[in-house]
Amino acid sequence: MSSRPTIGIFDSGFGGLTVMRSLLALVPDANYVYLGDTARLPYGSKSRETIARYAVDSLRFLESQGAELFVVACNTASALALDALEAEAKIPVIGVIEPGASAARAARNEAMQEAAATDLTSDGVLVLATEATVQSHAYARACAAHGLRAFEKACPLLVPLVEEGWIDHPVTEEVARIYLAEALVQAGAQNIIPHTILLGCTHYPLLQDLFECVLLKHFADHDPMSILDSAEATAQRVKQLVAERFSSTSTTSTTEPTQKFFATDSVEKFQRLGSRFLGCPIAYVQHVDLGG
Ligand code: DGL
Repeated sequence: MSSRPTIGIFDSGFGGLTVMRSLLALVPDANYVYLGDTARLPYGSKSRETIARYAVDSLRFLESQGAELFVVACNTASALALDALEAEAKIPVIGVIEPGASAARAARNEAMQEAAATDLTSDGVLVLATEATVQSHAYARACAAHGLRAFEKACPLLVPLVEEGWIDHPVTEEVARIYLAEALVQAGAQNIIPHTILLGCTHYPLLQDLFECVLLKHFADHDPMSILDSAEATAQRVKQLVAERFSSTSTTSTTEPTQKFFATDSVEKFQRLGSRFLGCPIAYVQHVDLGG
């Protein structure tokens, strides 16, 4: 095993670059190889079988590129294909669902401490995700394991709006307002009063500011809700695994860490939109054909 680990990151598109962004801050010494399966996006409206097949193709590709650890940055693939991936993988696999649920638990603990353990009785989490992730109830199960009750709301219009670059746009704001209003009523009908909104889709972290603004403008009467995503928590999990499995990464390697990007559709679009997700320019993207 090399002294500098190679971390493979997979998503249906560029959204997983939000996870890579968090990883670069926490594990800067690793080599990274990222695959965005842009030709087959969106995964969020597809069946479990199809998503698992696509995800396993991506795993094999990243293993062939030398990945020693496979990060499933895609929430939909994590929700529906983690078992299939773990069964196929020769390397450790980390998804985003469990770290997201555990981050929601940590946020609740923190809020309880701030409220001196008196006011905050809510164990509710509102999970916003794709249709397929919601149907799988993977977040509800993961939250339940942390003693939290999740209401999961599908927000299918948000991925295309983010893909369109409408990050700070009145149409996106109105769509977000409608989804939140519906979700809070539906959650309330199940006696779930959320203290946290968990952004359970790779694209939604780009809308965090917009969600904050919608909450302030339209939901000021609701109990305060914090907004979080799985990216940071997943990166923490990867950092821990790297520390356990790869020793003294930065001291023994004399070469600079590398970053490689692959996309299954337009490399130009990946570069343009991906930079927004990664938070810095992407110099070079290679095209790869993983079939249909
Ligand atoms: N990457 C997907 C997710 O995080 C969103 C985009 C898609 O539907 O493929 O769920």
